[in-house]
Amino acid sequence: MPASLSSTLLDWYDGHARVLPWRNPPGAPVPNDPAWPYRVWLSEVMLQQTTVAAVKPYFEKFTVRWPNVDALAAAPDEDIMAAWAGLGYYSRARNLAKCAKAVSERGGFPQTEPELRELPGLGAYTAAAIAAIAFGARAVVVDANVERVVSRLFNIEEPLPGSRKVIRARADEITPSARSGDFAQAMMDLGSSICTSKAPKCLACPLINPCEGRKAGEPERLPVKPPK
Ligand code: ADE
Repeated sequence: MPASLSSTLLDWYDGHARVLPWRNPPGAPVPNDPAWPYRVWLSEVMLQQTTVAAVKPYFEKFTVRWPNVDALAAAPDEDIMAAWAGLGYYSRARNLAKCAKAVSERGGFPQTEPELRELPGLGAYTAAAIAAIAFGARAVVVDANVERVVSRLFNIEEPLPGSRKVIRARADEITPSARSGDFAQAMMDLGSSICTSKAPKCLACPLINPCEGRKAGEPERLPVKPPK
């Protein structure tokens, strides 16, 4: 993998990372605090299908009321459901309550992707995000933003969803073993602020030089949607 691609992106992240209530400052070591994986998990579950702006007040409310996973595990399900009201996709809240109990019973969050995937409500994306962001493990974190960035970087013309395998393989190639959580969040920030679906701001992109999609001329065409 070109070492320069991840280091270029991480350098950009050091200067441009969004300041978010569930984030560590760029480059800071992963905190050795049992509440840290709890905060990462809670934010990632809330951010599934929901925007950063909508999640922020809910994240603050939850972490003030239930500052750690044991506190959330002890809460009545009705209180969790009531606090979730307005965020939508309520199966997430039911799984949140179940997952908190399971984690509290086992004495904390597991650290590996396969163990994380066994928890209620955790799919491949969330397990990888928690392994990387909460525990500093090297994990390949692919959400819709990352799919878009990778499709363009490597000019992947195959339509979704067939292209997912090659997108994942390419994402794996560019994921560094150090700062894997920062790298994942840098890809998300790049996807939401610069490598946007419509009118990407290529001239402001730290990856303009290696970007094959840009070289081919029409990066906004990518990723190609499935035929209807
Ligand atoms: N969307 C999902 N996870 C995120 C994160 N950690 N930071 C910003 N946006 C996200």
